[in-house]
Formats: sequence, C-alpha cells, structure tokens
Amino acid sequence: MQKHEMIAHARQVMADNDRGTYTVPTHGLYPFQWNWDSALSALGFAQFDEPRAWTEIETLLAHQWEDGMVPHIIFHTPDDGYFPGPEVWGTERPVPTTGITQPPVAGFAVARIHARARDKALADTQARALLPRIHAWHQWFYRARDPKGTGLVALLHPWESGRDNSVDWDAAFTRVPTEGVGEFTRRDTTHANPAHRPTDEQYKRYIWLVKKFRSLGWDNSKLHDASPFQVVDPGFNAILIRACQEVAELAERLDMPQIAAESRVMAEAGVAAMETLWNEDLGQYLCLDRTTGAQIDSPSIGGILAVFAPIPKHRAAGISARLKVLAESCEYLIPSHDPTAPEFEGLRYWRGPVWLIVNYMVADGLARAGEPEMIGRIMGDCLRLIETSGFAEYHDPITADPCGGAHFTWTAAMIIEILHSYDFAA
Ligand code: DGY
Repeated sequence: MQKHEMIAHARQVMADNDRGTYTVPTHGLYPFQWNWDSALSALGFAQFDEPRAWTEIETLLAHQWEDGMVPHIIFHTPDDGYFPGPEVWGTERPVPTTGITQPPVAGFAVARIHARARDKALADTQARALLPRIHAWHQWFYRARDPKGTGLVALLHPWESGRDNSVDWDAAFTRVPTEGVGEFTRRDTTHANPAHRPTDEQYKRYIWLVKKFRSLGWDNSKLHDASPFQVVDPGFNAILIRACQEVAELAERLDMPQIAAESRVMAEAGVAAMETLWNEDLGQYLCLDRTTGAQIDSPSIGGILAVFAPIPKHRAAGISARLKVLAESCEYLIPSHDPTAPEFEGLRYWRGPVWLIVNYMVADGLARAGEPEMIGRIMGDCLRLIETSGFAEYHDPITADPCGGAHFTWTAAMIIEILHSYDFAA
C-alpha cells in the first residue's frame, strides 16, 4: 500500500470514530471517551487538524476531578452496549465517569503537539490552559498513589494500567476476592472474540475492586491503603515520569516557573526510583508488588516501555538488547509478553499481542536515548501488520492475526503519526 493510501485509510477510521469533541476508541466495544486513547489519538489528529487535536485533550481534561484525578472513561452519552457502565461505578459526577485513572500520556502529547505546531499562537494558548490541569493530575498521582513518597506510583486496578489482563497482575490479583460480586453480564464479548479478551474470573475481580472503591465513596485519600491490589508498573511510571519531564520543559518555555520546578522534582525522583525495578537476569524492568515488596517475575512489555522515560543511557542500551532477543521469537515486534514464557497467548489482549501505541512509545524512547538500532524494525513491523491485517486494536506477534476491536482510532492515529515522523526508505 502506498503511504498516501495508508494515511487516507487511517484518517477515515479516525473520522468514523469522531464524535465531534472526542473520539471513541471503536464503535460498539468502547462507545465512550477513554483517557489514554484520547491523548494518543490527538497526536494523529495534530498531523492534519491541529484545532481538533487540542479539542480532544481539552474535552478529556474538562472532566478532571476536583482532587486532580483524570478518569479513565468519560461516559458522555448513555450506551448499554458497555459493561460496567455509570450505574456500576456510581461516581456521581455531572457527566458520569469511572473512578480510576489511566496512563497519563496527555502531558507528553501536549508537549509534542506544541513542539511541532504550525499554529504557534493556538498552541501557546492551549498549552497554557492545559498545563496547570495536567500538572495537578501528576501531583495527584504522587499524593494519592505514592503516599510513602517512594518516587513510584502504584496502580490500584489493572484497568488503570491500560494493560488490563497482563500476566504481571496474575499473582497480586489472587488477593482480590470474588465473593459478593453478584451476577453481571459482560458486553465486551458480544463485540469481540472472547478468546481475545480477559477471562470471566478476571472480570469478577475487576468488578470486586470497583465495588470496593465505590464503598469508600471514591475517596482517593482512602483507596490506596484499602486496596488488596497495589502494583508498581515500570511502563506506567515511565509514562508519568516522561510526562512530568515534558511538562517541566514546556512550562519553562511558557514562563510558568512553578510548574516547571515542581515537575522537574517529580521526574527526577521517579527516574532515580525506577532503578529499583531493574532486573539483571532478564535484562529489563519488572513490576513490583507493593503489598509483598517483591519484584514480579513476569517478562512483559511494561518493563520495555520503561525506556519511554529518561532512564540512564546504559539501561536504554539494555532495553535495546532485550528487544533483539525478543525479535528472535516473534515475527512482529513488540509482543506484550515474551513469546518464550509459558503464559504467552498471542491473541489474548495484553498477554502477547502487539500494540502500535506501545511500539510508538518504545521507539520514541530509544530515539531519545540515542539507541536507534531496533527502531527501524519496530516501526516497519507496525506498517507490515496494518498492511496485512488492517487497523485492528492489536495483532498476534507471530501470525499478524487482527484481534479485539476493528477500525480502531489509536491504531489509525499511530499509523498517521509514524508515517509522518519516521523516514521509511521503502
Ligand atoms: C475494557 O472495558 O476492556 C477496558 O479496557 C477497560 O478500560
């Protein structure tokens, strides 16, 4: 497929999922606004419609909670094709939202869109308005999700990670009970192949946590300590650290010194603390179970995505070397779980498949760290996957089979972004 054809196709996918002031990830399976989907999709919009890109992020942040949290889903209009809907979350917001958050990519997205903006005046105005909100969200993370000041934030629900059913959560998840969850009907499996989705057992635990947090009135000063699930994810923390660093640099340019200084302190503490997650045997970072204090022995993409943060140069080189090893066991980089590990499942959501958004962030981190060796392979694999199997939510790293939802906004946004940002000789 020619570059211009691929871009035209991607723009069509984005247009079909555009609801005017926000995009849905895909019709049917995800009928509302999702947090990190929106921020990453804005990067795609920015390549052909800057005002629309800014609107996407503005809409997301318009639903920020008073304590600073930016919720993971905003239920703009009712849709009973999704479970769990607003009545399960019970957050009592004017426009209903969930009560948990998602990877804070928005700070990175704002900085990137601002840096290459053609309309500089619009970019300055938007960034000035958005940075204080994003900064408040970052501060909320370290206050609510790192109460002991370790420099790393914990996830309290697998859905916060964005990597819902990763092998990383399996052991900690056994501590989440299922008693009292009650009967419910999943809707995701009517839109997508159940073999590509989390299991019923996992869903019971997802819902148990929602009910637990709801019983605490969604009071973020209570949730952390009350949660039987507290996991520190290197990928998630890397996104937060990178966002803090980008906000620091942009705030400095926009003469917002307090935000710049506070963001820098958070980023530096985060980078230093990331070192505790490095695992020399595997040659990548690992999650930490905050409840037990032990590293989680699970070779997932979370520990590779860590390169998105400004980690030390020798660690970035280590990640590049790890990617070379992974490349030997799959056809398409980057599998969300090591294909040689027994838990690997090539089709099942975050237990094996390739996600273009992760590929994009990993490649960006490698480029920033001066480790270009694997970038061409990773970006080339993204294009091959889409050519072979279309704009699916995720793809099998061995067979390229399209998985999950079809016609997917952020997959399309990443293709637009990748084709504009990377030089492909072919
Ligand atoms: C879902 O419904 O599968 C989402 O990933 C939760 O955010």
